[in-house]
Amino acid sequence: MSSTMRAYVSGENTPLTLTDRPVPTPGHDEVLIRTRAAALNNSDLTPSGDDHVAGFEFAGDIIEVGADAPAQLRGARVMGIASGALAEIVVAHHRHVVVVPETVSYEEAATLPTALATEHGALTLGEVGPATSVLITAASSGIGVVGVQLAALLGASTIVATTRSPQKRSLLEQLGANAVVVTTGDGDLAAEVRAATGGDGARVVLDHIGGDALADAVGAASDGGNVISVGRLGGARGSLDLFTLARRHVTLRSVSYGLTPPSVLGDLFDGLTPAVLPAIADRRIRAVIDSAYAFDDAHTALERLASGQAAGKVALNLD
Ligand SMILES: NC(=O)c1ccc[n+]([C@@H]2O[C@H](COP(=O)([O-])OP(=O)(O)OC[C@H]3O[C@@H](n4cnc5c(N)ncnc54)[C@H](OP(=O)(O)O)[C@@H]3O)[C@@H](O)[C@H]2O)c1
Repeated sequence: MSSTMRAYVSGENTPLTLTDRPVPTPGHDEVLIRTRAAALNNSDLTPSGDDHVAGFEFAGDIIEVGADAPAQLRGARVMGIASGALAEIVVAHHRHVVVVPETVSYEEAATLPTALATEHGALTLGEVGPATSVLITAASSGIGVVGVQLAALLGASTIVATTRSPQKRSLLEQLGANAVVVTTGDGDLAAEVRAATGGDGARVVLDHIGGDALADAVGAASDGGNVISVGRLGGARGSLDLFTLARRHVTLRSVSYGLTPPSVLGDLFDGLTPAVLPAIADRRIRAVIDSAYAFDDAHTALERLASGQAAGKVALNLD
């Protein structure tokens, strides 16, 4: 194997740049993967810190296994999460990869890990189960499209999805949304969610927008409901009437799985094994790919994500 690989580097002051980098060496609890596909995430639009290999999620073949990683992983077809995924070779903690079902392509698999871990983690934290009503905001986002399907898999009684784009309504309905609210800025989200949930509001809210829209999401929760702040597409700051939380006994929690210790992400992946991976294998949960590009065309892929027009994930294929 060559000692260098092609990789995209970015940083706070560096736009995405294709360059040569040394092939990483796996640590004792890591595996080395030949990347076959990768996918973009919203956070790829705003790289921070010093220059680093870009990207977070990938699918490929394990070519080397660290001394304390399971030896049977050698040669496995996996998908996973690791910093530095926009490269020909990726190094990942062995608990941050899962074996890809035979029925799923590398391109499809690469678009799933972030969404599966984040949305399953958030829905579980919100205690979604049979007969739970769920609201998912910005549901056409790369992770939201999987959140809608996971809510259905977990038995949610009613799933309400929001989008700003009327043309994305039918996709969200196909994925399992019982009601789609097209947010236009002058509507009343709480009233529309109550109408869709028998007057109660949503027992669990997964909010991907944040900013001032978080207050609307809280307003759409049922009394005693759980609001999980997952994303900040509309900004990290907003104003919220704390009396609304207190009066209606709404619990507000936040998740950021990119900022957790390796064991937490490992536990999230373990949580997918019993029910979610079989559902991916038989396509009850499917990848929603807006568009796919060649690895060399990552700039066009990034532009597509930045356009806000994408419905689902933007993928990159390697040879
Ligand atoms: N907590 C975690 O661990 C975690 C993990 C992964 C991602 N995230 C966060 O989750 C969010 C979604 O990530 P992603 O990669 O799935 O996003 P993405 O694919 O880039 O989502 C883009 C879509 O979101 C909607 N959108 C964009 N800006 C919006 C705004 N200001 N208000 C309302 N809707 C907006 C648009 O759809 P419409 O046309 O339908 O409105 C757009 O097509 C991001 O904030 C990301 O940082 C958090």
